[in-house]
Amino acid sequence: TVYPDQQIASVRVAERIARLIREKQQNKEQVVLGLATGATPVGVYDELVRLHREEGLSFRNVITFNLDEYYPMQPTAAQSYVTFMNENLFNHIDIDRENIHIPDGTLPKEQVHSFCLDYERKIEALGGLDLQILGIGRTGHIGFNEPGSAPNSGTRLVTLDELTRSDASRDFGGKENVPTKAITMGIGTIFKAREIILMAWSGKKAPIIRKAVEGEMSGEVPATYLQLSDNVEFVLDEAAASEL
Ligand code: GLP
Repeated sequence: TVYPDQQIASVRVAERIARLIREKQQNKEQVVLGLATGATPVGVYDELVRLHREEGLSFRNVITFNLDEYYPMQPTAAQSYVTFMNENLFNHIDIDRENIHIPDGTLPKEQVHSFCLDYERKIEALGGLDLQILGIGRTGHIGFNEPGSAPNSGTRLVTLDELTRSDASRDFGGKENVPTKAITMGIGTIFKAREIILMAWSGKKAPIIRKAVEGEMSGEVPATYLQLSDNVEFVLDEAAASEL
């Protein structure tokens, strides 16, 4: 779906999330959301905060799992995805803190594998992700599933691509400060979501969107695996869609 600009697109995505939350509330059910970081979803989070403040949207029945976190990373660091999620969403809504899940960047290496298996188990025990939102990196990564990721990959520790680290260098005050690793949900984890929305804004994302949507499916561009899914929607602004 192509919208004239990212503002209107973000509002539409937020409305869909709000509808899902309200439907589940009416049935006295929980909703399990997969959330993303980066600049792309910020407008969606802004609108969800507005719906909470001005229209009484409650997040009491919402359980969230974030896609990824740098490794190693202290949750209190300015660049952590914990800080990002708190500042952009969680501090402004009525979500129960116990319902928030973000990969733990503080674990000793030997505990990471079992943490990742547990992350998968928790999602499954709740009946899976109802909706996963995604951005896309210029390498074609979703979450931090960099080129070379397998389509059935699970949550795991990965090595970041050099281009990804360059793109993050501004947040860290230099590429040398960007962690070389991250914990990310796998492509297989993302695929199990009942609904997937990938968002991209601006002409900077146009070449990778073209590859993801029209390119040959390959581990070299992990987002091309989304071509296999029936329940994925790309939500774009006109600039990001300009090379399709
Ligand atoms: C990071 C995140 C991804 C995100 C990507 C794009 O690498 N781990 O989940 O999609 O950046 O970021 P932005 O939305 O800022 O373009």
